[in-house]
Amino acid sequence: MSKPSQFSICHPTEKVVSDINIISNRPNQEMTRCILKQLPTSGVSPPHLLYNNPLPTQPAKADPEALTPSRRYIQDVSVLDVINSVTKNNNDDAFDVVDVGNVQRRLDFWKEHMPSVKPYYAVKSFPDATVVATMTSLEMSFDCASPLEVDLVLATGAKPDQIIYANPSKQPSHITLAYAQGVNLTTFDNKSELDKIHQLAPGMELVLRIKPDDSKSKIPLGSKFGAVVGQETQELLDYAKELNLNVVGVSFHVGSNCVAYEPYVDAIELSKEVFAYGIEKGYAMAILDIGGGFPGAENDNEFIEMARQITNALQNFPVPVQVIAEPGRYFSAPLMTSVASISTKRKVGEQREYFINQSAFGVFAEGLLPQDRTYDPKVFPRPQGSATYPAKIWGPTCASQDVINTPANLQLPELEVGNWIYFENMGAYSVAFGFSL
Ligand SMILES: Cc1ncc(COP(=O)(O)O)c(C=O)c1O
Repeated sequence: MSKPSQFSICHPTEKVVSDINIISNRPNQEMTRCILKQLPTSGVSPPHLLYNNPLPTQPAKADPEALTPSRRYIQDVSVLDVINSVTKNNNDDAFDVVDVGNVQRRLDFWKEHMPSVKPYYAVKSFPDATVVATMTSLEMSFDCASPLEVDLVLATGAKPDQIIYANPSKQPSHITLAYAQGVNLTTFDNKSELDKIHQLAPGMELVLRIKPDDSKSKIPLGSKFGAVVGQETQELLDYAKELNLNVVGVSFHVGSNCVAYEPYVDAIELSKEVFAYGIEKGYAMAILDIGGGFPGAENDNEFIEMARQITNALQNFPVPVQVIAEPGRYFSAPLMTSVASISTKRKVGEQREYFINQSAFGVFAEGLLPQDRTYDPKVFPRPQGSATYPAKIWGPTCASQDVINTPANLQLPELEVGNWIYFENMGAYSVAFGFSL
């Protein structure tokens, strides 16, 4: 006889307001800790987050028992089970399902293919307390870009030396704050940053961010960050020396959502030049930070090839280095599934137009960026029959720009008000798009 899993619906304060029991038909089911909580009302339609957390509550250290193969993943309750339960028991509100078990799966996959590179999770991609706490329990490290992210990470019991403050442009008071909290590693790519650090946090260890080829990524970052290798990087290293600052390594970011290995391999090559100059200047260069950019789970094959090529490229590195990375999307994208119900339907010729209760200004915001992603809806429950019609999906606000960026020529079965659709791989740059101070 299998035991039921218990799902708790919680307020932001995590006060339980009701429980849902899901009776699994799978054997050996274990009790899981799951929380459904409401997001702050910053979005148009505050969705719910449901955490499917396989780890013990707030583990300061990973509990080896919890990580044995039979217990480490929640295989007994799928995201679809959760959607089924919530949509059956609830009203028509939109919600998101966060499967925290994916943290462990992604970490294992990373270690399998790129064991020589230590991931520092880029918190900005999905700055969520439960996700970060799970990572802390797995002894992961973090890339923070703001004091809020530093606070979030430290609050889960992580130590300051598990953090790189990987923002080359920091508000002065934020440098002071992070330094006071014990964060001792940060990036820079300009002289003004060096001046601030000299004045406010002279003991900080510095990583020089260089400009790689970002043309193979969906969201290039090179126009904003990175020093050009050559004269610019040399002048920065000279200036840091004049200020008696401690440069310990090099970083780069090939741009977000990159499925090509070449920019990484080329940038590793470029880093060698900076390392050589730094060592000549007397710096103890020991860290190579290959940044983020790695794709979500839908591009695992590409990731495997990227990892293979990066690992090869690192083998020729001329000096011993600790290689780290700052993956955001790689971890966060597969964590979340967004679920919406249809509020309104209309026909425009053959086309069915559906209004849903998640917004292009909310979880689908990344679709508003040029060159960026499309969102492919699935119908829940799986529809009977095979007839489909051209479809368009509008978000709930009054703005005509609030249209979900679906693939061109989207076809959907005939749907009605109250039907549910869901979108997978929604964790990255959705709930918390961008940066918060
Ligand atoms: C400095 C830095 N590191 C890491 C990341 C995470 O990138 P990704 O989510 O593409 O892995 C970003 C994203 O903007 C970034 O700016």
